[in-house]
This record gives sequence, structure tokens and C-alpha cells, in this order.
Amino acid sequence: MSPNLQTQTVLLTGATSGIGKAAAIALASLKATVVMVGRDRARSEAALAEVKAKSKNDRVTLLLADLGSQAQVRQLAATVRSRHPRLDVLINNAGAIFGNRRVTVDGLEATFAVNHLGPFLLTHLLLDLLQQSAPARIVNVASAAARMGDLPFDDPNMEQGYSQTRAYGRSKLANILFTRELARRLSGTGVTTVAVHPGVVRTRFGETASFWYRTGVRLLSSFWLSPEQGADTVVWAASAAEAATLNGVYLIRRQVSTPVPLGCDEQAAQRLWELSLRLTHLQSEPGPT
Ligand SMILES: NC(=O)c1ccc[n+]([C@@H]2O[C@H](COP(=O)([O-])OP(=O)(O)OC[C@H]3O[C@@H](n4cnc5c(N)ncnc54)[C@H](OP(=O)(O)O)[C@@H]3O)[C@@H](O)[C@H]2O)c1
Repeated sequence: MSPNLQTQTVLLTGATSGIGKAAAIALASLKATVVMVGRDRARSEAALAEVKAKSKNDRVTLLLADLGSQAQVRQLAATVRSRHPRLDVLINNAGAIFGNRRVTVDGLEATFAVNHLGPFLLTHLLLDLLQQSAPARIVNVASAAARMGDLPFDDPNMEQGYSQTRAYGRSKLANILFTRELARRLSGTGVTTVAVHPGVVRTRFGETASFWYRTGVRLLSSFWLSPEQGADTVVWAASAAEAATLNGVYLIRRQVSTPVPLGCDEQAAQRLWELSLRLTHLQSEPGPT
């Protein structure tokens, strides 16, 4: 039986496209209040209209923020807190891959900043709201591409030897390690967190990747999952009764799976936490200890 999310508020990043937009439609169809986060106004307003029309739910709203800007992430969190007395589900879904190395307004390598540090900061700034709303869930959209990632400690800005695959793999490994460490720190609070690999999905993903990556996508993507299929485990983790007690695990096709060995490294998870606190200037702010 489908859950009824009438009393629940869900915040979802990367809601303008692909997996995020499909998840927004599914969760709004389950009657949740859905707060979509987009970046480009025109694309976001078009997605908002589509989500409302397809879900037949008017309790869907839009906030704009570039997750590569820590000032915009802070503003986003402040707006959520001022407009919403509760937050039951946070879905960190926005993500990107860059063919050439880019640096954000904060001076950080863009893949790590958008895919890991932005969600890390947003989650921290909303944790007390999630805890007040417990039971609450945090779903981090990771990827099996984590197997191509390394740990960021020697060169977090990837100034040496940039490659899109390494940068993307590192950011997705960070999603898995963040989930693991966050789950440990949230134990007993009523807030749970999981990481999800959505499968290989036909979306806009890769538009900013290298020519060869985009060519590969054009040739192969007709064999890939649809955005709705890709969103299935994300929506399940966010809403199913059976998923409510899952904490710190990595999910593929609704099943608990074992991530790459580095994704199970507790020391690496703690070191990444410390590095992320430093790079987001959160060190002196409250959070799970
Ligand atoms: N597609 C796959 O096969 C696959 C496989 C494994 C994991 N994933 C993960 O799934 C997630 C969703 O990807 P997708 O496949 O649905 O790709 P997509 O269609 O390109 O959607 C990505 C979403 O992220 C948003 N986004 C990108 N950079 C952003 C930024 N700086 N600030 C705010 N939002 C930003 C995009 O917004 P705009 O509309 O403004 O660009 C878009 O809404 C990502 O985390 C990706 O790593 C995808």
C-alpha cells in the first residue's frame, strides 16, 4: 500500500530535472508538501508547474540556490527554517560532473563543492529542524561511481591531476562516507540517513562533462533506466514504512548493499567530517557530535 505523506514536508535538491524531478512528482503524488530546490529560475518554474500538474498537488513550492555557493546554501536553509515549522525528509539529490576543472565562488573544486560540501552544509543547517520533526529521514543520492573515487585529504581542491572521473567518484564516495558518519552521530535522535545508488539513468546528467562522456551518453542512454525508475529507491527510502529504521546504509534497488571498501572506512569517514566542517566554516556551529 502506498504511504500517505499528507502531514510530511520534503525538501528536495536538484528537483528541476531527471531523478529529482521524478522523485518530486512521486512524493507530491503521495500528498507530501514538497519544497523543490532549483538553481535556474526559468527551468525551476517550468519544473514546478510540471510537478504540480502531474501530481495534482498544490502544496509544492520552489526555492532557488546554487549548491556551489555556501552563501546561497546558508540563505536556502534560513528560508526553509523561516517558512516551514517542520521538515520530515531532506533529499540531497543535486549533482554534477565537469569535464574541465572548475572552482566555485568559495574557491573550492566544483564537483566536491556541489556534490558533497553543499549537501553537507545544508544538512547541518537543517539538522535541528529535522530532529524537532523526528522521526525524520535524510536521503543522499550517491553513485556506484564512488568506486572510481579517492580520498580528498592530500589535495581537496584537486589542484594536481584533475580528471572528471576521479573528481566525480571522489564526491560520490564522500556522499557514502558522510552518510555513514552522520548516521553514527544521529543514532538515537529519531533522524535516520541512507545513501542511494539510483542505477544508470537517462537524464540531463553529464551535459557539463567531456565531449567523450557526452558522446557515450548519446550512444548508450536508450538502454538506461528512465528517471522514474531511477527515482524509485530514492522515493522508497524517503517514504516507505519498511525503510524507516534503515540508518547509515547504502541502497541499490531497495536493497541494502555493500559499498566500495573505502566507503566502509570509519576513520576516513571521521576525517572527511572534520575536513568538511573546516571547508564549510561550520567548526564553531552546533551539530551532532
Ligand atoms: N543519471 C545517472 O545515471 C546517475 C547515476 C548515479 C547517480 N546519479 C546522481 O543522481 C543525482 C541526480 O542526477 P540526474 O541524473 O537526475 O541528473 P540531472 O538531470 O542533470 O539533474 C541534476 C540536478 O542537479 C541540479 N544541480 C546541478 N548542479 C547544481 C548546483 N550547482 N546547484 C544546485 N543544483 C544543481 C540540476 O539543476 P539544473 O537544472 O539547474 O542544472 C538538476 O536539477 C546526482 O547526484 C547524480 O550524481 C545519477
